[in-house]
Amino acid sequence: MSEHPRDASAWTREHVAGLERTDDNTTPIIYPPEHNTDPDNHIWDTWLLRTPDGTIADVDGYRVIVALSAPNDLLPGKRHDVATHRFYYSRDGREWTPGGRVFASDANVLGSRQWAGSAIYDPDTGEASLYYTAAGERDEADLSYTQHLAVAHGGTVDADEEGVRFEGPWTHETLAHPDGEWYEREDQSRGMIYTFRDPWYFEDPESGDTFLLFEGNTPVPDGSEACGGDPVGQEFNGSVGIARASSDDPTECELLPPLLDAVCVNQELERPHVVYRDGTYYLFVASHRHTFAPGVEGYDALYGFAADSLFGEYEPLNGSGLVLTNPANAPFQAYSWLAYGHRDEVLVTSFFNYYDYDRPTLDDVAYLPEDEQFRRFGGTLAPTVRLGIDGLDTWIRGTLGHGHLPTTEEELPETEAERIARLRSERGEPGRDGYGSG
Ligand code: FRU
Repeated sequence: MSEHPRDASAWTREHVAGLERTDDNTTPIIYPPEHNTDPDNHIWDTWLLRTPDGTIADVDGYRVIVALSAPNDLLPGKRHDVATHRFYYSRDGREWTPGGRVFASDANVLGSRQWAGSAIYDPDTGEASLYYTAAGERDEADLSYTQHLAVAHGGTVDADEEGVRFEGPWTHETLAHPDGEWYEREDQSRGMIYTFRDPWYFEDPESGDTFLLFEGNTPVPDGSEACGGDPVGQEFNGSVGIARASSDDPTECELLPPLLDAVCVNQELERPHVVYRDGTYYLFVASHRHTFAPGVEGYDALYGFAADSLFGEYEPLNGSGLVLTNPANAPFQAYSWLAYGHRDEVLVTSFFNYYDYDRPTLDDVAYLPEDEQFRRFGGTLAPTVRLGIDGLDTWIRGTLGHGHLPTTEEELPETEAERIARLRSERGEPGRDGYGSG
């Protein structure tokens, strides 16, 4: 077991003050795809089936994604209240076939609905461990927002000529509740919805130790000095949590102190995950504009931090932490980004969220006529973003098609921006800022 410091790294108001859109972090406008990933369901929050060391699983020539889903005739804003896991599979990483519900039966599934997680596959046995957020409690009469970490194990993922199947029975077990000391419990929460969710499995390539990262909140007791004693600022206390996991026993989980927190800065550091490149741990989270504390501003965006060990100390990428965001005239077009290594670059997938919509906040979606709420919601995989990374600097290199998650063999061509920059330089013409400027 590696050593870890007790103090979390901090994402501070000073870091965030430097945050701004530039050509290097702003994605192009997204247009609706010809057809959605799933013709019957809206999907959001996607993760790839991986082997324990993080490699994308190859199930007899298929790669598999799991996503949160809700029927597409349900008002998009209500989807979190009914979310279930569905899976999709593809041979070429472009065309996805809907495989149906991950858990064929609701029996024993934890929570009144299931939120984001991660999925680990053992290529030798076909067995899978499916980590997820149990949101609410099973069979609750009124929808609650309590959350805990859970795992389903004992089932398999198989493929035959018909396609890919998730096969139970699955044993569902609770892994962790917030402890109230490192991780805020619901009854301690003073602000917007507390968080204890999105378990993400990670095997540290340097130590071989295995962990679950998750989204939490750092308790800030009444009368604390944080934010100069400002009780409103103190309500914003997002953290990246970590627990020790076991590669042999998926039900083992021991909470450790958080890796990073954003007290007085931001309430939600969502879907934390790590990409390891050349000795550096890149920690990514998604967050919303409306979850920043009063007095600091940010966007719906992917934020990132880097450290030379899993336990930190983490420094924000690009000075502020901002890695990529939506353009100013479509500020909510994508969300819930997930970065992963592909050959010598990093790719980022996300879902197509609200488009043709530039109100200051997502909350105003609820004031649109219902048909407009449906029309302006993507509910499908967004274009994949190609990200350049060098030390603490990142830049957008270009984008791929909606839901194009290339197979490991697929070598991606030079991006259009890079090609233009190369031709300019070959012709001795002056360069221009923009994608690919590095
Ligand atoms: C991010 C998120 C996740 C959560 C899910 C619920 O998009 O807030 O943290 O698991 O949505 O739908």
